[in-house]
Amino acid sequence: MEKTLVIIKPDGVQRGLIGPILTRFELRGFRILALKMLTVPKEMAEKHYAVHQGKFFYNDLVNYISSGPVVAMILEGVEAIKAVRLMVGATRPYEAAPGTIRGDYALTGLRNLIHASDSPDTAAAEIALWFPGNEVQSYSRDLDRWIYE
Ligand code: CMP
Repeated sequence: MEKTLVIIKPDGVQRGLIGPILTRFELRGFRILALKMLTVPKEMAEKHYAVHQGKFFYNDLVNYISSGPVVAMILEGVEAIKAVRLMVGATRPYEAAPGTIRGDYALTGLRNLIHASDSPDTAAAEIALWFPGNEVQSYSRDLDRWIYE
């Protein structure tokens, strides 16, 4: 099983898309291991996007993710990192395939609604940054045997 970090960004919260986005992940079969709403401090946003430091869009990214409440979660499932990224869709919303979250709900630039870890190393670092301490549950569900062989 893999764990991945997902953030519903300020535009997702403001547009009332927390429920629809969570529903997609639950219906796909992912287990939610941690879930919280927070307004991201600037320093944490800078750490989260450190890999983009120096790029022309870095300041806008940091300012945007810390501009209002976001919902962060850890999802668990088989090949969760890749599967969630495919559900999220292309970074540029206008290029995201219909059926993906961005392809169905987003259209432009920074308003791409959602972030998801892009590799096992990134997922581990992001989970540690967003959910430090004892905030992560570990459990199984009765329905898991109908999702996993
Ligand atoms: P996210 O999945 O949060 O991770 C990095 C973010 O950087 C990405 O979403 C986009 O919002 C943003 N991003 C990546 N590439 C570009 C780009 N070329 N121009 C503007 N923003 C970008």
